[in-house]
Amino acid sequence: MAIRKVGVIGCGLMGHGIVQVAAQGGFDVVAFEGDKGALDKGLARIEKSLSKLAEKAIEKGKPKEQAEGDAKAAFGRIRGSLDKKDLADCDLVVEAIVEDLDVKKKLFAELGALCKKETIFASNTSSFPIGVMGDASGRPERMVGLHFFNPVQLMKLVEVVRSSKTSDDVFAQARAFGEAVGKTPVSCKDTPGFVVNRLLVPYMSQALLMLERGDASKEDIDAAMQLGCGYPMGPLTLTDYVGLDTTLSILEGWVKTYPDEPAFKIPAILRQKVKEGKLGRKTGEGFYRWEGDKKS
Ligand SMILES: NC(=O)c1ccc[n+]([C@@H]2O[C@H](COP(=O)([O-])OP(=O)(O)OC[C@H]3O[C@@H](n4cnc5c(N)ncnc54)[C@H](O)[C@@H]3O)[C@@H](O)[C@H]2O)c1
Repeated sequence: MAIRKVGVIGCGLMGHGIVQVAAQGGFDVVAFEGDKGALDKGLARIEKSLSKLAEKAIEKGKPKEQAEGDAKAAFGRIRGSLDKKDLADCDLVVEAIVEDLDVKKKLFAELGALCKKETIFASNTSSFPIGVMGDASGRPERMVGLHFFNPVQLMKLVEVVRSSKTSDDVFAQARAFGEAVGKTPVSCKDTPGFVVNRLLVPYMSQALLMLERGDASKEDIDAAMQLGCGYPMGPLTLTDYVGLDTTLSILEGWVKTYPDEPAFKIPAILRQKVKEGKLGRKTGEGFYRWEGDKKS
């Protein structure tokens, strides 16, 4: 495999997890951040997560020295950076910054000018077209989507997305990278929401529309999908988890770009809650009230 050195841009919720799994997979990783506080926080989270994993491995019978040595070695493969130039010689750069297409396009244009010509670019975007970022980078044939799931350390899936311009070789390398960091890659074309969110977000939106029409209570909608379909949580609890603002911004983007797609609908109740600042678990209230991770 040609990828050895990986750059990750953004060390937030998703980025720190991508940095960690890449280091655990044996890659040298540059963790680049725009913000020193965010970088320190991200690196501290990784160190804590690695030591927790080592503890678990010891409990399961792995020799202590080996478990602690592996964690230390993985952390040692990570270099934090506040200087974009450190990304120039990376074989793969994965972007995990704020979900704002203009900001991402500007970043990929900079990377196109900065990185060696072989560097593969990837975005962890949940909702934007990969091809648009590839065009902004000036090397659309070397651009893919690598869509990891939260929490990256635990979730087994990575969606590997190819635009119409992505080269076969780059796509194969991106899939191989997904496997090398312990994930199961699924291939997908550059379509809105890829596989998972294309199915999940309209499902959440339909549940909100049911609630809005008064077809059933939020508790009953959630119980129905948990007990009837075996889902780990119902759609309204899930929306609270994802964040009502995030869900709204995904839907708004899709409705704007694909006004004739009947699956993309914005429930009024979602707009109203966001307007009131009830964004879900992270603000303590969405469709439910929350105390930390638990409904109160
Ligand atoms: N949160 C999720 O469940 C989830 C799941 C899959 C994909 N995603 C996608 O992953 C990306 C990151 O999401 P997140 O939840 O980790 O966000 P986050 O806010 O936790 O982290 C973003 C980080 O990027 C940094 N950043 C922002 N702009 C930057 C720039 N120009 N240069 C360098 N660093 C910059 C911020 O300081 C922050 O630490 C988004 O595109 C999002 O859609 C999120």
